[in-house]
Amino acid sequence: MTNVAILGFGVVGGGVADLLTGNAREVSALCADDINIKYILDLRDFPDSPFADRVVHNFDIIAADPDVSVVIEVMGGSHPAYEFTVTALKAGKHVITSNKEVVANYGDEFLRLARENGVSYRFEAAVGGGIPVIAPLISFILHNKISEIRGILNGTTNYILTKMFSFGVSFDKALARAQEKGYAEKNPDADILGIDACRKIAILAAIATGKLVSVDAVYTEGITQVRSEDVLAAERAGYCIKLVGRCVICDGDEPFIMVAPHFVSKSEPLASVNGVYNAVEVIGKPLGNVMFYGKGAGAGATASAVVGDLMQTLRLGEGIAPVFKKCDKCRDFSELVSAHYLVLDNSQKEEIASVFGNVQIIPAEAELAFITERMSEAELSAALESLGVEPVSHIRIL
Ligand code: HSE
Repeated sequence: MTNVAILGFGVVGGGVADLLTGNAREVSALCADDINIKYILDLRDFPDSPFADRVVHNFDIIAADPDVSVVIEVMGGSHPAYEFTVTALKAGKHVITSNKEVVANYGDEFLRLARENGVSYRFEAAVGGGIPVIAPLISFILHNKISEIRGILNGTTNYILTKMFSFGVSFDKALARAQEKGYAEKNPDADILGIDACRKIAILAAIATGKLVSVDAVYTEGITQVRSEDVLAAERAGYCIKLVGRCVICDGDEPFIMVAPHFVSKSEPLASVNGVYNAVEVIGKPLGNVMFYGKGAGAGATASAVVGDLMQTLRLGEGIAPVFKKCDKCRDFSELVSAHYLVLDNSQKEEIASVFGNVQIIPAEAELAFITERMSEAELSAALESLGVEPVSHIRIL
């Protein structure tokens, strides 16, 4: 019998408890052991829950219990998740988490502590919800020369963009629905401002490069600036708009890491990822392109990844654990090259050819919308500066 403790009985914690009990037969067959939820740590009581008798309010009880060998931290946020994780690892307990914030901030330290204490620290559910991406990346892909990892990494914003622009639902209603469904973070600003996706791409970049770049160094834009006019323009030009996290790896250099809305050509696989679904595309040599696709948020999907980590832990122990080194910067963003969708005031019409050269004009009412040729961020800034304008809208082309 393996005794586990679940820290946090919210959407994900509830999903994990339900999955471990509802699919107990499948899980114990695969783990070659029965799993017992010995404790659930939460500030609240849950008198009507079938797990009411396991609820405790003091982490010390869990830390001091030698029968608990696995701690499942699904409470979210950096603190006290950080302190509980450190204590659990030092006490020789395996730790599994879905908490991308704490992984992005302290993953290097947790992996080191796990190594030093002969236990594992796993975080499959921290990226892409239920999509198995971290374990396959480590086991089957990293021996390739990876040039880029990019993906739709936030279920809430993809759900909102899909509801707004395919079904005409307002932003507020779409967000409220995402919250009801348990997709959004406690503070949904983390979703809509791109912070959640930023943490996830930083984690994927660390898996690929070994460097855990500080999230403050990652260029991050959310979806709040995307206008319905932009969606219409994208549609006219054969694109859709997605919030995309990118890690571009150039031989021997720091990677570019960023999160921003992008025009994605409808011929790209990422363009067909809608609703709460996420996808991660990895490009490497000699492998080519591989795409991982599935539900990026929600209790059941996230719990599936957490329990997958539990099975890996019980069957493989430490397995192939990554090593992260903390890093304060990524490659200077001004060197990143892409084409750009720009909207300027109609009065600039005469000047754009001389400043931007060949552009693809997108028919638009009362504004000047176009797509530039590929140019670096620095070249784009210089061009806009020479025009003396701030664009009405600016979205990169993937
Ligand atoms: N708020 C996150 C999302 C939850 O919407 O993707 C899963 O990490």
